[in-house]
Amino acid sequence: MRRRSKVIGSVVALVVLIVAGVVIGVVVSKHNSSSSSSKKSASGNSTSGYAVGPYGVVKQSDPNDPSSFLKDDALKQSFYGLAYTPDNSQLPDCGNSLAAVIEDIQLISQLTTRLRIYGADCNQSALVLEAIKQTKVNVTAWLAIYNVPNNATAYEEQRDKVLDAIKTYGTDHVGGVTVGNEFVLDFMGANGGGSDPNDAVGTAGGELLIANITDMKNQLSSLGYSVPVGTSDAGAYFNDKVLESVDYALSNIHSWFANVSIAQAADWTYTFFEEENVEVAQGLSNKPDFAIGETGWPTNSTTAAAASNGPSTASEENLQTFLNDFVCGSNKNGTEYFYFEFADEDWQAKQFGGVEGYWGLFHDNRTLKGITIPDC
Ligand SMILES: *[C@@H]1O[C@H](CO)[C@@H](O)[C@H](O)[C@H]1NC(C)=O
Ligand SMILES: *[C@@H]1O[C@H](CO)[C@@H](O)[C@H](O)[C@H]1NC(C)=O
Ligand SMILES: *[C@@H]1O[C@H](CO)[C@@H](O)[C@H](O)[C@H]1NC(C)=O
Ligand SMILES: *[C@@H]1O[C@H](CO)[C@@H](O)[C@H](O)[C@H]1NC(C)=O
Ligand SMILES: *[C@@H]1O[C@H](CO)[C@@H](O)[C@H](O)[C@H]1NC(C)=O
Ligand SMILES: *[C@@H]1O[C@H](CO)[C@@H](O)[C@H](O)[C@H]1NC(C)=O
Ligand SMILES: *[C@@H]1O[C@H](CO)[C@@H](O)[C@H](O)[C@H]1NC(C)=O
Ligand SMILES: *[C@@H]1O[C@H](CO)[C@@H](O)[C@H](O)[C@H]1NC(C)=O
Ligand SMILES: *[C@@H]1O[C@H](CO)[C@@H](O)[C@H](O)[C@H]1NC(C)=O
Repeated sequence: MRRRSKVIGSVVALVVLIVAGVVIGVVVSKHNSSSSSSKKSASGNSTSGYAVGPYGVVKQSDPNDPSSFLKDDALKQSFYGLAYTPDNSQLPDCGNSLAAVIEDIQLISQLTTRLRIYGADCNQSALVLEAIKQTKVNVTAWLAIYNVPNNATAYEEQRDKVLDAIKTYGTDHVGGVTVGNEFVLDFMGANGGGSDPNDAVGTAGGELLIANITDMKNQLSSLGYSVPVGTSDAGAYFNDKVLESVDYALSNIHSWFANVSIAQAADWTYTFFEEENVEVAQGLSNKPDFAIGETGWPTNSTTAAAASNGPSTASEENLQTFLNDFVCGSNKNGTEYFYFEFADEDWQAKQFGGVEGYWGLFHDNRTLKGITIPDC
């Protein structure tokens, strides 16, 4: 993704501020590619008899076989799903690599059987599916298109990359194609919308999004594929007509941005999702499937002042509490979620500041934070 989701909740002023920040951030954004070289260590380590990946974290007993990776006892396959963005996958500075995505998939597969990505720029769809193939792991990917209002090229280029990847790899490891992430939230922010995604502005944005969703469905079915097509938005920004056009929806719900204390965070997230999303979807004719598309807790921020938002405070200790309160309980009561997120994203810290870059279970260099993964 090129930007990060933020608020959910009904905190209108906060939403507007964040959207303004996001829009400006995107316009001035430039990925700092020097960050990528520092995180790539030499691969291969003959003295130990193992090869290591470009992050230097995962070992393989056979350098030529990514499925021969060694498991890490600290990792548990406890998450319903994980939100993931391969490093260096933002235009115009593509710098990702199959080797790096393979190392990520080796780690991700020890935590979950499902992942979602956010877009198809920089060959992400093919890299993820190739990495799943080479590592031979049981992981299903929800591919994605990060479309933006009024840019037909951005949509079409990504659509064609998703379709090419599906033609190459088939659909065995594809759970769906998500068209849009926070499209209506961003559209409303950029066009003076209020807080109701079913008002005139929300509906106008929704119509643009629906055109692309409908096209994606038609393209897949004309090629003979039966792949669900969905969308993702901030939890309070689902337009009903958009929901009526999709097979599934992913709701980004962040208690941290809604000024909720860590003690209430897991319950608040559950209640918000049930009341604002699941119940609404059940009232629509097509009853789309709903999962939490993002939820998590940050551990750090670019400035000390930004580390707290009212009673919510970024820290590893609070991330541990959120993991303890949310993960196994949600698995037990059938709440489907993509935990946000796999690893910190340094580019987001640079581009957006605040807590944006620090939601990972892993640091940006793929070492696990000072947390214990719940064992459900
Ligand atoms: C090779 O791997 C071993 C075990 O992980 C480590 O102790 C050693 O420092 C590594 N050597 C090199 C040259 O990277
Ligand atoms: C693969 O993961 C899915 C859940 O995503 C699970 O239903 C299935 O049983 C797993 N398959 C194997 C062979 O473990
Ligand atoms: C995209 O990735 C796949 C899998 O690694 C590779 O086969 C293909 O050549 C890549 N395409 C481009 C344009 O880099
Ligand atoms: C995708 O959406 C954009 C507007 O957001 C529009 O310009 C373009 O025509 C749409 N493309 C298709 C094929 O639906
Ligand atoms: C539209 O998207 C394409 C591909 O993502 C990008 O190269 C182009 O700069 C965008 N155009 C505008 C006007 O933003
Ligand atoms: C926390 O954020 C600061 C400011 O961005 C950064 O310098 C520091 O390396 C970060 N620490 C960790 C552990 O990520
Ligand atoms: C959330 O906390 C921030 C920072 O303390 C504050 O500026 C904002 O007014 C609070 N918002 C609400 C709705 O409480
Ligand atoms: C489902 O699990 C979540 C996370 O533990 C919890 O907050 C919520 O109260 C649970 N809901 C029910 C109905 O048990
Ligand atoms: C990985 O990054 C974290 C946070 O910046 C840092 O504390 C840690 O020392 C790094 N680990 C390695 C092996 O570079």
